[in-house]
Amino acid sequence: MNQSELDVTALIAAQHGRIRALFHTAMEAEPADRAASVDVLRRYLALHEAAERVALHGVGRARGLSSADEAARRVIEEDELATGFDHLAGFSPDDPFFVHQLGLLEEAVGFHAEDEESKELPAFLATAPSGDIDRLASMLARVDATFLADGSAAVAGSTMAEQVAAAADVLREG
Ligand SMILES: [Fe+2]
Ligand SMILES: [Fe+2]
Repeated sequence: MNQSELDVTALIAAQHGRIRALFHTAMEAEPADRAASVDVLRRYLALHEAAERVALHGVGRARGLSSADEAARRVIEEDELATGFDHLAGFSPDDPFFVHQLGLLEEAVGFHAEDEESKELPAFLATAPSGDIDRLASMLARVDATFLADGSAAVAGSTMAEQVAAAADVLREG
């Protein structure tokens, strides 16, 4: 692997690790803190998924790379996850269903991330032009920079799909 390929692989793995940690924090939070923890998780996840949508899944499908079929599956999963997060917002954080649903989302995101790392990304890296790999690396780097700088402004929206769309606009401009 060249440096860009190593960068992308490490960035995706690190972001998936951060998402796992944010899920853990939200699952362990006291009921009074749970909504705020989920809000942070949603903001980070929206930025991460937006970068993948634009620079990984979108490019793989548009260019017909060998990652295209996996990319199509990941987009469907991300849509389902977004619906799941919206569903969660309809329940009180101290409702047992809230934690149950959050646990299901945690599991689903885990499988989704694993397939991105083990199936889609290797296929993408094997066939994508180097400019696309560099662009994915810079998009992913902007995820963390944006989250740390002002994550809430970057991911405005009431539904998760709106948050992902807002995040994609910010990441494209960056
Ligand atoms: Fe994803
Ligand atoms: Fe991901």
